Amino acid sequence: MQSLKERFNSIISLQDLEKFKVEIIGKKGGLTLAFAELRNLEGEERQKQAKTLNEIKQEFEKLFESKKQELQILELAKKLQDEKIDVSLFTQSYGGKEHYVHLMIEKIVDYFVALNFELCEGGLVEDDFHNFEALNISKFHPARDMQDTFYTRDEKLLRTHTSPVQIHTMQKKSPPLRIIAPGAVFRRDYDLTHSPMFHQVEGLVVDSEGRVSFSNLKFILEDFLRYIFGDITVRFRSSFFPFTEPSAEVDISCVFCKGEGCRVCSHTGWLEVLGCGMVNQAVFDAVGYKNVSGYAFGLGVERFAMLYYGINDLRSFFEADLRVIGQ
Ligand code: PHE
Repeated sequence: MQSLKERFNSIISLQDLEKFKVEIIGKKGGLTLAFAELRNLEGEERQKQAKTLNEIKQEFEKLFESKKQELQILELAKKLQDEKIDVSLFTQSYGGKEHYVHLMIEKIVDYFVALNFELCEGGLVEDDFHNFEALNISKFHPARDMQDTFYTRDEKLLRTHTSPVQIHTMQKKSPPLRIIAPGAVFRRDYDLTHSPMFHQVEGLVVDSEGRVSFSNLKFILEDFLRYIFGDITVRFRSSFFPFTEPSAEVDISCVFCKGEGCRVCSHTGWLEVLGCGMVNQAVFDAVGYKNVSGYAFGLGVERFAMLYYGINDLRSFFEADLRVIGQ
């Protein structure tokens, strides 16, 4: 009996436990055979033996059950351990973290606030005048095609860029002014690098005529882009925006291949990162500003964040997958 107990105690798998059970109370098990032997006994002797055997059987079954439970728990724990993919499932709770888009906005705004730019926020719902008309984008201007958005029946719309903040600010304040305006904007695009809602940061500087030049704009943007992306080359390409004249698009040397050419920069060595220019006189006319000059720029925050943090699908910013922000 002692050696049976020892064997029993050394069992460490459910499979071995089952085997052991069969050996004891299976069809040909030791205890089963002992019961069969009862028929060779008589009277009191037989009763006494039957009682003992039954007690042994009950005790065995009790031991067997508790051992079985113990092994089941151990095997489950082992299975969980082996199949563990995400450690946070078991041991870590998720502490809140700032979203990359928000971190990027803060980083950008910090730079300009340090240079005395005033932080402004406009509304997401605009009217045609502030989003288009005052920015020199008339009703049938082709620039509207790229900026299709949601319209309500009372002629309101979800802003397609942060540029309307320029108009609101100039209507409220007189020059000189320097503003930086981050916020969400809406368009009809949806693919790897575009989403129907994204974020921009707008900058505007206005001062009396002749005090603000394209050189100022160039200097500040180059310095800003190096502050964000480090050791890069900056290039201005002439471009067109209805609300700036002259206008430029700004490229930086590819942060991934250092300008050698790779998949991200379509083998050009350059990445387009923002639009800018000298404020068009038509915009000043729309808000009644006289004898002033100024520059403006606008950038896409998600694009900055993708390049800065090395994220390759813009949609992952908005899919609420905690693994993205948990990184
Ligand atoms: N508003 C422009 C856009 O969304 C960007 C821009 C802003 C360009 C300011 C020039 C000056 O594409």
